[in-house]
Amino acid sequence: MADKLRVGVIFGGRSGEHEVSLVSARSVLRALDPTRFVAVPICITREGRWLLAGDALCALEAGSTDLRGEAVALLGEPGGQGLVSLEQAGVSRPLDVVFPVLHGPYGEDGTIQGLLELADLPYVGAGVLGSALGMDKAVQKTLLASRGMPVAEHLVIRSLDWRRHGERLADAVAVHPGYPCFVKPANLGSSIGISKVKRPGELASAMELALRYDHKVLVEEAVIGREIEVSVLGGEEPRASVCGEVVPSREFYDYQAKYVDGTSALLVPADLPEHLGREAQALAIHAFQVLEAWGMARVDFFVCPDPERVVVNELNTIPGFTPISMYPRLWEASGLSYAGLLTRLIELALDRYRAKSQLDTVYRHVPPNDQI
Ligand SMILES: Nc1ncnc2c1ncn2[C@@H]1O[C@H](COP(=O)(O)OP(=O)(O)O)[C@@H](O)[C@H]1O
Ligand SMILES: [Mg+2]
Repeated sequence: MADKLRVGVIFGGRSGEHEVSLVSARSVLRALDPTRFVAVPICITREGRWLLAGDALCALEAGSTDLRGEAVALLGEPGGQGLVSLEQAGVSRPLDVVFPVLHGPYGEDGTIQGLLELADLPYVGAGVLGSALGMDKAVQKTLLASRGMPVAEHLVIRSLDWRRHGERLADAVAVHPGYPCFVKPANLGSSIGISKVKRPGELASAMELALRYDHKVLVEEAVIGREIEVSVLGGEEPRASVCGEVVPSREFYDYQAKYVDGTSALLVPADLPEHLGREAQALAIHAFQVLEAWGMARVDFFVCPDPERVVVNELNTIPGFTPISMYPRLWEASGLSYAGLLTRLIELALDRYRAKSQLDTVYRHVPPNDQI
């Protein structure tokens, strides 16, 4: 028992993707190898309170986190603002590693990763920079394009500019990227706040919806193609899984098609010509490296028929982890089980932590040889 690693599984969170995180966390908690790990559930409520162990599990089972419970502090002195330390909450030994199973802002975006860096805890997945880049669709696209990777034509519109110059910007959208287009908040996921806009008269309401979730919005050309996804796993030398395909049950892969209808098809492996599959895999690894990811990422593409091209849509640093989610399924199809995948991700978290701990943090002057 003593040598089992204590894995803090953090879920919930203050994001529109709270519910999705609960579903992912249930399967991660169930699948962690019990011979190697002790799971410590940690739930962040919608209001941002942290619940531990039993309280966290109650929240998870209830499917809601609007529950009372003893809030805990990961950092700092207990007692302040009604917080108790992990120790006071009955956690006898500190955590060895943390697995954030949080989607969207305040979880996938570098904020929790920053907290874990400060707490000096190893954690699964991309670091602060990689997480932030993975979350911001606008910066992500700029970086990928700067490295020669194919992304959709797009325009970035900020809330203040839209309020001040909405008409002029609407004229600009009509020219570039033109219609139909997709309007989406820069920092979110799970298709929340995304609209397909077919004509100019629909732009304002789509912008209004997206601006409810972020002050920065992307307006993208509608790419006509199949939706192909690749899972990436690793550190310095990441590997790509086989390709999968999403066939949405609706006009596009919106929230309803992703989580409500249950009739979108996830095809594993995708029935794709070999050269296109290889191209997507190579682009996935390249995107993983360019965007400073670590451990895991799912890279999503459009594969277009005419002219034939593979366009990078986005990289997700904390992909869905439900048993039917693409990320673990693609690894299963590539020969790695769900439980084996979790173990590997924890090993990668510890590898990065060890490597980082070996770096010098202060400048040491080394005298030239002739002065020794
Ligand atoms: N430029 C685009 N062209 C065609 N379809 C798009 C485009 N952008 C988004 N979509 C559709 O919307 C879905 C969600 O958009 P995406 O950018 O992947 O956001 P999220 O992070 O919420 O998954 C995609 O899976 C796809 O079905
Ligand atoms: Mg997506």
